[in-house]
Amino acid sequence: MTTYLQELVLEGLPLFRRGKVRDTYDLGDNLLMVATDRVSAFDVVLSEPVPNKGAILTGMSTFWFELTRDLTPNHVVSTDVCDLPEIATPFRNALDRRFMIVKKAERIDIECVVRGYLAGSGWAEYKQDGAVCEEPLPAGLVESSRLDKPIFTPAAKNDSGHDENISIARMEAAVGKELTDQLKNASLALYGFAERYARKRGIIIADTKFEFGFINGQLTIIDEMLTPDSSRFWDVNLYEAGRPQDSFDKQPLRDWLMETGWDRNPPAPSLPASVIQATADRYRTAFERLTEMEFTSNRG
Ligand SMILES: Nc1ncnc2c1ncn2[C@@H]1O[C@H](COP(=O)(O)OP(=O)(O)OP(=O)(O)O)[C@@H](O)[C@H]1O
Ligand SMILES: [Mg+2]
Repeated sequence: MTTYLQELVLEGLPLFRRGKVRDTYDLGDNLLMVATDRVSAFDVVLSEPVPNKGAILTGMSTFWFELTRDLTPNHVVSTDVCDLPEIATPFRNALDRRFMIVKKAERIDIECVVRGYLAGSGWAEYKQDGAVCEEPLPAGLVESSRLDKPIFTPAAKNDSGHDENISIARMEAAVGKELTDQLKNASLALYGFAERYARKRGIIIADTKFEFGFINGQLTIIDEMLTPDSSRFWDVNLYEAGRPQDSFDKQPLRDWLMETGWDRNPPAPSLPASVIQATADRYRTAFERLTEMEFTSNRG
């Protein structure tokens, strides 16, 4: 039984993209997305994997894709090992539950960010201008405040890593007004649904990022969806406006790294087993609260 996966190179399959966490292979009309157990903090990939993280993230994305399929079509083709390409079958045990075969889309180069709470760059902008992404907000909000109405704050996707927050006007200039409206409406609807769903189950999704593309001319949600890697997850029980919130998943890791005095340049110090375990437990708890299913590290 494999409990972690950090480096797996599928020889013979062309790489589409290698991100911090996922390795994506090109299957022609489809992509094979493999979520490894790599973890990053402060934008640096750490040298130790977090056991089962890839399976948990894949399980969570799959869960949301299924739950929201009537709201927005998605790119998922299969998560069944029987559908792996021949060349990947020797690795089927390692890949099991960590991969998704998806339809390759014409990607729209906009990160569709929705914020329901004031945190990160949204809080920074509000403090300075009283507005986020040129959307004026009421006075008197504090850090982590819940917004009366979630806001859509797009960013331009930049493959070199640093995405740039842009105004709606700039998004309209880039992709047109009609598509901007469609993306905004779809993103707000997905976030609104997911935020309510998760809050009832003990998790606040403070903000999240969606990606969309076209598949056979149809607007489709792609990439990963509503995972702690693409969103800010907070614990409902610990939430208190007026201060920064602990991140549900990576807080033990961030706290420990800060304590070491690390300067955030790679390589990061190597993690003690207790910190890895605490992080793995957080990912598992997030999965179990949201899906109301038990996560077991082997398929029964
Ligand atoms: N169905 C799809 N069709 C085409 N491209 C897709 C599809 N789904 C996801 N993508 C793209 O595949 C890439 C996956 O890369 P990945 O997210 O692993 O790394 P990254 O975004 O480059 O870096 P990071 O690790 O910081 O997220 C992204 O560029 C994403 O936009
Ligand atoms: Mg990405």
